[in-house]
Amino acid sequence: MKKPTYYRGLFVSRWLPPMYDLWVSIGVLGNTKALRRKILQFIPKNPKIIIDLACGTGEAALLLKKEYPNSRVLASDLSEGMLKQIQRKAVKQNIEIEISLQDAVHTSYSSNIADTVIISFAIHDLPHTQRLLVMKEAYRLLKKGGVFIIYEYHMPQFPLFRLPIYIQFFLVENKEAWGIFTEPLQEELSQIGFTQTKKRTFFKGLAQIVAGIK
Ligand SMILES: C[S@@+](CC[C@H](N)C(=O)[O-])C[C@H]1O[C@@H](n2cnc3c(N)ncnc32)[C@H](O)[C@@H]1O
Repeated sequence: MKKPTYYRGLFVSRWLPPMYDLWVSIGVLGNTKALRRKILQFIPKNPKIIIDLACGTGEAALLLKKEYPNSRVLASDLSEGMLKQIQRKAVKQNIEIEISLQDAVHTSYSSNIADTVIISFAIHDLPHTQRLLVMKEAYRLLKKGGVFIIYEYHMPQFPLFRLPIYIQFFLVENKEAWGIFTEPLQEELSQIGFTQTKKRTFFKGLAQIVAGIK
């Protein structure tokens, strides 16, 4: 599949997909489980269909399928290498997830099917205009009453706690990614049509979840 011009070669490199989980684990000092489980409090009861956009190696998708075994979990990403990793883990853990190569900006999923759409630690990788398109795509995919969850980096208020963000962003992120710290995600979701939007921060303000209901 042709990648958009802004798409980072890093994600389709040979080394990143197999190393990605280790990289995250080092970044969060081994607290991967705690990091991932934060999303659970935003998931509506008994979700039938959950969509994980830009799923990477699928940590969120795998967790959600384990927590909600009766749901269908659809996970997609633009990196064949990342999808290979989720496939490998799903087989190893005997978990059934529907995996596909897709651009989060316009997927081939049908409209109004999902109880939850999530995008975690990925929206900052897109330019601002594309971020808005992903939010619109999530709106299209959700059933009425469904929840959209954006999990992202966040700039802590207390300067000392900002160090991990500076390290991560100076080392690996592109320039436009910094925009995530000032982007009014809640307002943008409201403008698209989401209601009851909320924002919570975690881990001393290093991460945020912004959610809204269709
Ligand atoms: C930093 S990783 C995050 C992966 C995963 N969601 C997580 O929580 O660990 C960013 C992912 O976004 C994917 N990505 C970037 N732009 C995309 C797009 N337009 N459509 C689908 N996936 C995209 C990359 O391939 C990569 O796997």
